[in-house]
Amino acid sequence: MSLAFPVPVRPVIQPPPMVEEVLTDDEREALKSRIKALMKQQDAVLVAHYYTSADLQDLAEETGGCVSDSLEMARFGHAHPAKTLVVAGVKFMGETAKILNPEKRVIMPDLGADCSLDLACPADEFAAFCDAHPDRLSVVYANTSAAVKARADWVVTSGIAAKIVKYLHRQGHKLLWAPDRHLGEYVRRVTGADMILWQGSCVVHEAFKVEALKKLHAQHPDAAVLVHPESPEPVIALADVVGSTTQLIEAVRTLPNPEFIVATDNGIFHKMHAAAPGKLLLEAPTAGTGATCQSCAHCPWMAMNGLKKLAAVLEHGGNEIHIEESIRARARLSIQKMLDFAAAEKAGTIQLGD
Ligand code: 13P
Ligand code: SF4
Repeated sequence: MSLAFPVPVRPVIQPPPMVEEVLTDDEREALKSRIKALMKQQDAVLVAHYYTSADLQDLAEETGGCVSDSLEMARFGHAHPAKTLVVAGVKFMGETAKILNPEKRVIMPDLGADCSLDLACPADEFAAFCDAHPDRLSVVYANTSAAVKARADWVVTSGIAAKIVKYLHRQGHKLLWAPDRHLGEYVRRVTGADMILWQGSCVVHEAFKVEALKKLHAQHPDAAVLVHPESPEPVIALADVVGSTTQLIEAVRTLPNPEFIVATDNGIFHKMHAAAPGKLLLEAPTAGTGATCQSCAHCPWMAMNGLKKLAAVLEHGGNEIHIEESIRARARLSIQKMLDFAAAEKAGTIQLGD
């Protein structure tokens, strides 16, 4: 395929240093009860991603919120009646909540919680990419800014990307994809769609090492290998299950294997252990020959969320997500298509077949 608009390899995104919150039991309990009281006063609900700390995940569940993948975070926040949505995750998740719920106050423990995929896809460069290919529909991963979503025809998350691309491909559309090249390559492989790929990547998933993974699997031959599709193709090629965070947790719960090797952020282990208490869970290796990872199986932006920051934002205000209305309204359309597609698929009104 000749590219009228060559997509340059994106500059390497430098992740911030990993700073994780460490609390004593007393501090944790004191913070949690303060946060619970403040959330009640402010009619707030907490929506947390599986990669955030165990403390935040537990708090979300104890207070009637939710812990989930990015698709369900969007659905849950939208359906919940609370006036304030507290999003523990990364910025694009907070923005998605605001895009869907403009009337609600959306706050985050740390607005600096970014994502290497979002950072690798500046809106003006993405717009030029689209302008160069007016014959193609643009499909963007949810890990993008509101401005990129506003320009895109469709937004997808990892849990539904292949289904939506397959649907568009069957309708005869040629596609542009941004920003994750590994997820894009995976979706292209499983759907056969004609896709031109942006060249961003996730600093966490790109660090998994294929040779070290083969070695670990040889030592644990009964283990099923679970891989998030933001991982490079040679790692995906070793997978028994490829899926979103929710789909990987479901695999641990339902597969008969006594052991699992998991290639995604290790924050997910909190829910995986709860889903299958007796099973052995092993991190896919990020070290080994040629190891270069700086965010070894844990996202430094997700780690910016913590109980202290959450208490502070509820107590003192600030950290609210604001999106310019014309951008929000356009981004809403492309996200809504995904939510409508997910609902129609669930209801059986869209049949994808094999
Ligand atoms: P999920 O939608 O699978 O939760 O993925 C979000 C993400 O950022 C993974 O790195
Ligand atoms: Fe972004 Fe990767 Fe962190 Fe997910 S794990 S939020 S894709 S940098």
